[in-house]
Amino acid sequence: MMLKESCTVLSLDEIEEDIYSMWLSSQAIAEEARPGQFVNVYSRDRSRLLPRPISICETDPAQGCFRLVFRVAGAGTREFASLQAGAHTNALDVIGPLGNGFPLAEEKGKRVLLVGGGIGIPPMLSCAKVLQEDAMAVLGYRSRAFLQEEFPQACPVFIATEDGSSGSKGTVIDAIRENSLTADVIFACGPKPMLRAVSAWAAKEGIPCFVSLEERMACGIGACLGCVCDSNTLDRHLNVCKKRVCLEGPVFLSTEVKL
Ligand SMILES: Cc1cc2nc3c(=O)[nH]c(=O)nc-3n(C[C@H](O)[C@H](O)[C@H](O)COP(=O)(O)OP(=O)(O)OC[C@H]3O[C@@H](n4cnc5c(N)ncnc54)[C@H](O)[C@@H]3O)c2cc1C
Ligand code: FES
Repeated sequence: MMLKESCTVLSLDEIEEDIYSMWLSSQAIAEEARPGQFVNVYSRDRSRLLPRPISICETDPAQGCFRLVFRVAGAGTREFASLQAGAHTNALDVIGPLGNGFPLAEEKGKRVLLVGGGIGIPPMLSCAKVLQEDAMAVLGYRSRAFLQEEFPQACPVFIATEDGSSGSKGTVIDAIRENSLTADVIFACGPKPMLRAVSAWAAKEGIPCFVSLEERMACGIGACLGCVCDSNTLDRHLNVCKKRVCLEGPVFLSTEVKL
């Protein structure tokens, strides 16, 4: 069920340069959200009409709140990063949870390899917390690592950094090969080149791979077609080989979409 909520910013911390962790109040979103879903966050500055899609990093139904981890990319996310925690006058309008999320229930009992790259890492944390010992995570960074100390509480974690400052030097694929990792199914979120490489590796190994895509979005609810991606199958609603990332996604089987 999709909800529109006015959410108080409960905490806001810069966890790395220009990367923020924000807990927002909403009992309903905390209870409804599944790993891999996202929310649309509205700017308080009405000159920015379109909401900004951000993945749900974690939920805490007991405390009635959920967590976003975002990078300052432009004016909207800069505004979110400037808010003051605790002040209800700084509440943010949020719609969510949106999208399909990763198929955790359908893949229950399988060994899941979670692969996150850069700002695609936050949604993998909620997957790790639900899957626990059924998961292992490979996290890829340029150099500055964030959230990596939170994964080991849930599952084994392997790090790759481009500059070799921690873990394997190179990409997530280097870390997978170096540690001889394998799995029954892969869940991945990150930049397109990473998703392409992970999908290609998965295809070679015969492992089904689910990828979470990012496209620029407008409505976030399937109405405007602003977020379509190329797909390998005919969409019955659109009658073209396209999928709406906000509605049919953001998670797709890698063979369903053109990466
Ligand atoms: C399903 C989904 C989940 C996302 N989850 C996260 C997340 O967990 N953390 C996070 O930091 N970011 C996430 N993003 C990206 C985030 O939505 C954009 O960074 C944000 O909308 C930028 O808004 P802005 O006003 O700060 O920047 P703008 O001024 O609007 O844009 C600044 C830069 O960001 C790029 N950008 C804008 N919108 C998007 C978009 N939808 N996807 C990718 N790039 C975009 C623009 O091309 C431009 O280069 C997600 C995007 C999608 C579609
Ligand atoms: S953002 Fe409008 S259809 Fe996806």
